[in-house]
Amino acid sequence: MFSRVLAVSIMIVALSLVGLPALAADNCQTCHFEFEDEDGASHKFVRDIHGQKGLGCVDCHGGDPSLDDMDEVRREKDYRGVPSHLEVPRFCARCHSDAAYMHEYNPSLPTDQLEKYKTSVHGQRLFNNRDDKVANCISCHTVHEIGDAKMPHSSTHPVNLIATCGKCHSDADYMAGYGIGTGQVDDYVVSVHGVALLERNDLGAPACNDCHGNHGAAPPGVTSLSAVCGNCHAIEAGLFNTSPHEPAFAANDFPMCETCHSNHKILKPDDSMVGTHHEAVCAECHASDDGTRAFAIAGTISEALSRLVTAHGQAGEVLSEAIEKGMMTTDEEFRFKEVDQALIQARTMVHAFDADSVLSRTGPGILKADSVRVNSAALIDEYHFRRKGLGFATLFITILVVALYIKIRRIDRGLNE
Ligand code: HEC
Ligand code: HEC
Ligand code: HEC
Ligand code: HEC
Ligand code: HEC
Ligand code: HEC
Ligand code: HEC
Ligand code: HEC
Ligand code: HEC
Repeated sequence: MFSRVLAVSIMIVALSLVGLPALAADNCQTCHFEFEDEDGASHKFVRDIHGQKGLGCVDCHGGDPSLDDMDEVRREKDYRGVPSHLEVPRFCARCHSDAAYMHEYNPSLPTDQLEKYKTSVHGQRLFNNRDDKVANCISCHTVHEIGDAKMPHSSTHPVNLIATCGKCHSDADYMAGYGIGTGQVDDYVVSVHGVALLERNDLGAPACNDCHGNHGAAPPGVTSLSAVCGNCHAIEAGLFNTSPHEPAFAANDFPMCETCHSNHKILKPDDSMVGTHHEAVCAECHASDDGTRAFAIAGTISEALSRLVTAHGQAGEVLSEAIEKGMMTTDEEFRFKEVDQALIQARTMVHAFDADSVLSRTGPGILKADSVRVNSAALIDEYHFRRKGLGFATLFITILVVALYIKIRRIDRGLNE
C-alpha cells in the first residue's frame, strides 16, 4: 500500500519536473500577460489559432523566450520586433509560403497567399506604390487573435467578413482619392445574399470573398469575376452560355449576370423584370424596331409567365377551399407541388432568352394547374352533395324516430288497456 503511494508520488514529481522547464521557458507570454490589459497582445493571443496550435510570441517576433528582460530580448540577433504595414506580407509569408514548414502542421493548407495577394489590387498597390492604406494580411486577419474562417470570432468568418472589408471600403474619408465607390457594404446588406447570410445565417450565400477571392481580392478581369455567379447558380449560367446573349454580351463587354442583376445590390427578381413594359430589364436594350426578334420574344415570355401565375393562383384558391372542407386532397396537393415546380423552372428558363424554353415549362404547368382547379372544384361539389345527403338522411331518421315513438306509444296504450 505504502509503496504504491510512493510510486505515484514519485511519478507526479517526475512529471512536474519534465513539465516545468517547458512552462517556465516562455517568458515572453508570462511577462506580457502580467502588464498588458485585455486588449494586449498576450491576452488576445488566447483566441489566436497560432497560440492554439502551440506557437508562441517568439515564432513570429523572434528573440529568446528564456530571457526575462525585454531589453535583452531586443538585443537578440534574431529579434524581429514589430513589422511595418509594408513589411507584414513577407513577415507572415516567411512561414505561410514555406510549403515544407506548413506541411508539418497542416498538409492541406494552401501556401500561395502571398503569390495571390501580389496579384490583387491591394498587393499591387502595397508593393508597387508603397501604399500603406490598402489591406495587408493583418487588415483582414487581425493580429494576435487570428482565426480560421470556421471560428465564430474570426474576422474571416463569413458573417464577420462583411465588416472586415467594410472597415475600409465603407469609410468614405479613408477611401477618398481612390475613385471607387463606398456603397458596397450598404448595397450588399440589403441584397438577397446579404439578407440570407446576415439575417438567416445561411453560409451558402456569398460573402465578399466568395466573389472576389480571399487573396486575389480584385477583378483580374470583369469576365472572370462575372463567371463566379455560375459556381453557385450553375443552371442559369448554363442556360445563359447557350443563349443568344452569350456572344452578344461578350462582343459588347457586358458582364454576364450583373448586367441585369447588378453586383452588390442583387434584389429578389420577379416577373416584372421580363417583358416589354418600361420597368422590364429587356426594354433597357430592346425595342420593337431594333431589327431583332428580342422584343417580341420578351413579350411572349412575359405573357406565358403571367398565364401560369394566374392558373397557379386560381388552382391554389380552389384547392385551399377543398382542404378547408376536409376533403381527401392528397393527390391534388401533390399535383399542385408540380405546378409550383413548373413556375420555378419557367423563371429559371428565362435565362435561355428564347420563348420555346419558357413555354416548355409554362405549357404543362398551366395544364396541371387547370386540372388541380377542376378536380378540387369537384371535391367541393362532392362536399356540398354530401352535406345535402346528410340533411336528407337526418330528416329521414327524425321522421323514422317520431314514427317509431308514436307506434310505441300506441302499443303501450294498447297493452295498458
Ligand atoms: C520581463 C518582461 C518581458 C519579457 C520577458 C518579454 N517582454 Fe516584450 N515587452 C515587455 C515590455 C515592458 C515591452 C514594452 C511595452 C510597451 O512599450 O508598451 C515589451 C515590448 C515588446 C514588443 C513591442 C516591440 C518592442 O520592441 O518594443 C514585442 C514585439 C515584444 N515585446 C515581444 C516579446 C517577445 C517575443 C518576448 C520573448 C522572446 C518578450 N517580448 C519578452 C516586457 C517583456
Ligand atoms: C502570427 C504572428 C504573431 C504572433 C504569434 C505574435 N505576434 Fe505580436 N505582432 C505581430 C504583428 C504582425 C504585429 C504588427 C501589428 C501592427 O502592425 O499593428 C505585432 C505587434 C506586436 C506588438 C506591438 C503592439 C501591438 O499590440 O500591435 C506587441 C507588443 C506584440 N506584437 C507582442 C506579442 C506577444 C507578447 C506575443 C505572444 C503572446 C505575440 N506578439 C505574438 C505578429 C505576431
Ligand atoms: C512561425 C510561422 C508562422 C508565421 C510567421 C505566421 N503563421 Fe499563420 N500559421 C502558422 C501555423 C503553423 C498555422 C497553423 C496551421 C494549422 O495547423 O492549421 C497557422 C495558421 C494561420 C491561419 C489559419 C489558417 C486556417 O485556415 O487554418 C491564418 C489565417 C494565419 N495563420 C495567418 C497568419 C498571418 C496573417 C500571419 C502574419 C501576421 C501569420 N499567419 C504568420 C504559422 C505561421
Ligand atoms: C483582403 C483580405 C485578406 C488579405 C489581404 C489576406 N487574407 Fe488571408 N484570407 C482572407 C479570407 C477571407 C480567408 C478565408 C478563406 C476561407 O473562407 O476559408 C483567408 C484565408 C487565409 C488562410 C487560410 C488558407 C487559405 O489560403 O485559404 C491563410 C493561411 C491566410 N489567409 C494567410 C494570409 C497571409 C499570409 C496574407 C498576407 C500575404 C493574407 N492572408 C492576406 C482574407 C485576406
Ligand atoms: C485596410 C483597408 C482595406 C481593407 C480591410 C480591405 N480593402 Fe480592399 N482596398 C483598399 C484600398 C485602399 C484599395 C485601393 C483602391 C484602388 O486603388 O482602387 C482597395 C481595393 C480593393 C479592390 C479593387 C477595387 C478596384 O476595382 O480598383 C477590391 C475588389 C477590394 N479592395 C476588395 C476588398 C475585399 C473583398 C476586402 C475584404 C475581404 C477588402 N477589400 C478589404 C482598402 C482595404
Ligand atoms: C455576388 C458577388 C459579389 C459579392 C458578394 C461582392 N462583390 Fe464586390 N464586386 C462584384 C462584381 C461582379 C464587381 C464588378 C467588377 C467590375 O465590374 O469590375 C464588384 C466590384 C467591387 C469593387 C470595385 C468598386 C466597385 O464598387 O465597383 C469593390 C471595392 C468591391 N466589389 C468590394 C466588395 C465588398 C467589400 C464586398 C462585401 C461587402 C463585395 N464586394 C461583395 C461581385 C461581388
Ligand atoms: C457562394 C454561392 C453564390 C454565389 C457566388 C452567388 N450566389 Fe446568388 N445566391 C446564392 C444563394 C445561397 C442564394 C439564395 C439566397 C436566399 O435564400 O434568399 C442566392 C440568391 C440569388 C438570387 C435570388 C434568387 C431568388 O430566387 O430569390 C439572385 C438573383 C442571385 N443569387 C444572383 C447572383 C449573381 C448575379 C451572382 C454573381 C454576381 C451570384 N448570385 C453569386 C448563392 C450564391
Ligand atoms: C444589356 C443589354 C441587353 C439586355 C438588358 C437584354 N438584351 Fe437581349 N440582346 C442584347 C443584344 C446586344 C443582343 C444581340 C442583338 C443582335 O443580334 O443584334 C440580344 C439578343 C437577344 C435575343 C435574340 C434576338 C434574335 O433576333 O435572335 C433575344 C431573344 C433576347 N435578346 C431577349 C432578351 C430578353 C427576353 C431580355 C430581358 C429578359 C433581354 N434580351 C435583355 C442585349 C440585351
Ligand atoms: C438579360 C437579363 C438577365 C441576365 C443577363 C441574367 N438574368 Fe437572372 N433573371 C433575369 C430575369 C428577368 C429574372 C426574373 C425571372 C422571373 O422571376 O420571372 C431573373 C431571375 C434570376 C434568378 C431567380 C430565378 C431563378 O432562376 O431561380 C436567379 C437566381 C438569376 N436570375 C441568376 C442569374 C445568373 C446567375 C445570371 C448569370 C449567369 C443571370 N441571372 C443573368 C434576367 C437576367
